[in-house]
Amino acid sequence: MTLLAVRGLEVHYGGIQAVRGIDFEVAEGELVCLIEANGAGKSSALKGLMGLVHHAGEIRFAGERLDGRPTHAIAALGLALVPEGRGIFGRLTVAENLDMGAYTRRDRAGVRADLERVYDLFPRLAERRDQLAGTLSGGEQQMLAMGRAMMARPRLLLLDEPSMGLAPLMVQKIYQTVATIAREGVTILLVEQNAHLALQVSQRGYVMESGNLALAGSSDRLAGDPAVRAAYLGE
Ligand SMILES: Nc1ncnc2c1ncn2[C@@H]1O[C@H](COP(=O)(O)OP(=O)(O)OP(=O)(O)O)[C@@H](O)[C@H]1O
Ligand SMILES: [Mg+2]
Repeated sequence: MTLLAVRGLEVHYGGIQAVRGIDFEVAEGELVCLIEANGAGKSSALKGLMGLVHHAGEIRFAGERLDGRPTHAIAALGLALVPEGRGIFGRLTVAENLDMGAYTRRDRAGVRADLERVYDLFPRLAERRDQLAGTLSGGEQQMLAMGRAMMARPRLLLLDEPSMGLAPLMVQKIYQTVATIAREGVTILLVEQNAHLALQVSQRGYVMESGNLALAGSSDRLAGDPAVRAAYLGE
């Protein structure tokens, strides 16, 4: 079943057009990536989905129109964004940050179970549950941002370049967790500059170029596409 269907998504900032009318879909249970190399609209597309920036186009999610709704209503329908730069609360502890992810939920038993699940996924966070989030390493902050989004039990998890600025071992760890979360049935839209990583972990992908969609297909096929290999994989 199609969970997210986007038609003609555009994002403008004054005279600059960052996203130029793109169409894409994500089916329930899929891990789909949106890749683009030159800083031309990936984050803006995700912010548009969440209603964080002014945008045009039609966004359908589980039969509801998202465009025009405020961000809190979009979050309440089941979207959670792990933003670029993580967006954690530095002066709160790890545990308090995770609580914040569940602040709209009333099912206490479910929240407790999800907290255990996050600590299972990220044992590093369990060890550091009382540490101030601002003192975590970059990789740990990425884990916390992902864990906090999971605490909302989202129907669609939006990940904005989870590998950015991290050491290679940490990138591997984060991507292993992305794969685990996806295997367990969470639907994910992953935005990445690193096409190699994104195409390895996803089933399908879309390639953006200067704010337009250039290619779409299965991740296997995209990873073998000569244009993708030339532009992204250094061949
Ligand atoms: N709030 C803003 N006001 C004005 N211009 C903006 C704003 N946010 C983004 N832009 C511009 O929109 C374009 C796309 O930015 P965006 O952050 O969406 O790209 P990106 O693909 O996520 O880049 P990166 O890979 O570096 O994260 C850029 O030219 C950027 O300068
Ligand atoms: Mg970005």
